[in-house]
Amino acid sequence: MGKIEAAAGPILCVVGARPNYMKMAPLIRAFGARSDLPPALLIHTGQHYDAFMNDQLFRDLQLPAPDVNLEVGSGSHAVQTAEIMKRFEPVVDTHQPSSVVVVGDVNSTIACGLVAVKKNIPLVHVEAGLRSFDRGMPEEVNRVLTDQIADLLYTTERTAHGNLHREGIADERIHFVGNLMIDSLLAHKPRAVKAAEILGRAGVAENDLAHWQRYGIVTLHRPSNVDQPETLAALVDTLVQASRRLPLVLPLHPRTRANLERFGLAGRLATGRILCLQPLGYLEMLGLMAEATIVLTDSGGIQEETTALGVPCLTLRENTERPITLEQGTNTLVGTNRISILRELDAVLATGGKRGRIPEYWDGSAAIRIAEHLAAWLERRVAH
Ligand code: UD1
Repeated sequence: MGKIEAAAGPILCVVGARPNYMKMAPLIRAFGARSDLPPALLIHTGQHYDAFMNDQLFRDLQLPAPDVNLEVGSGSHAVQTAEIMKRFEPVVDTHQPSSVVVVGDVNSTIACGLVAVKKNIPLVHVEAGLRSFDRGMPEEVNRVLTDQIADLLYTTERTAHGNLHREGIADERIHFVGNLMIDSLLAHKPRAVKAAEILGRAGVAENDLAHWQRYGIVTLHRPSNVDQPETLAALVDTLVQASRRLPLVLPLHPRTRANLERFGLAGRLATGRILCLQPLGYLEMLGLMAEATIVLTDSGGIQEETTALGVPCLTLRENTERPITLEQGTNTLVGTNRISILRELDAVLATGGKRGRIPEYWDGSAAIRIAEHLAAWLERRVAH
């Protein structure tokens, strides 16, 4: 038995919400492939729990069932974060891990990160250093705080280094490894479901498919876009107008679906050529995005996925924490103003939109780089 295996507990890999799964799946696989790393245990906080938000994605990404599920469920930010911390602490006590790995920027990320560092367990943050510079976003607070307390910070793009540097984080803690989200995308693209199949299942008749040669996909779930009735109503009106140019598919996040009902906007949305669906599985979303003419979104991850797929993306936000998708990729920030959204949509329909190129290290090997680096890092810690 090597020194590491003798001296170190497992690596606790934490997921909580949908965007975490595609980052953790390749990492768990890469960790498992190395005999010089301790075993990895998958801890699910249960932040996302329903079949559409969770189960289907686990299947699609071939993620193993979690070793531990904290089953925390929904709640206010304070309640959710506190509950995760309370339930994660005994897991850390039981397993005495060699490190805790958290990804992204959701409440589960900061909650488990805090528990780990207070117990002197090395904390690894994957997708570190992204900044929207908008503290009104709950994710921005989670990012800044997790990066401050993490021992190792793995980044997806080089601008992250400058952001971390400005916040006083030492260079030796930061490592540019590339993008795990793109590892998953490249691994699963050959298995993606064809758009015609998804549209057919959603009720589009075969003789109607000709009208769906070109289509857009829309995703909306940011509290800043969907929690206020006036903002959501204006976006609904914009989408209805946009759907006169090309039909739209709208897989509805539970938050958005609930607010459309609560604010009495479902009927208004139904006046457009807009196909409302349940949240899609990973392979369905991938297939639908790959064949789309355009994607309109307020998601973080979809800005990256569209860049990797070479599909034009209009981001319905005032800022992005992923500037490389604007500079090198296919992304354009359009905000939520109707006139600018429709203008940019028309430009994409007329010209085909930004072509973009694939950013450095978005090559399918980020997980391998992380596993290799972490193995050496843990070994050095044991040696000291
Ligand atoms: C969370 C993340 C966000 C990420 C998003 C992806 C934080 C702060 N936010 O936001 O960064 O982009 O996930 O989806 O962590 N719900 C269900 N079923 C579920 C989970 C949630 O119906 O499986 C409903 C509940 O009513 C819940 C609401 O969705 O109140 C919001 O869920 P929550 O986990 O609080 O945040 P998200 O908006 O999903």
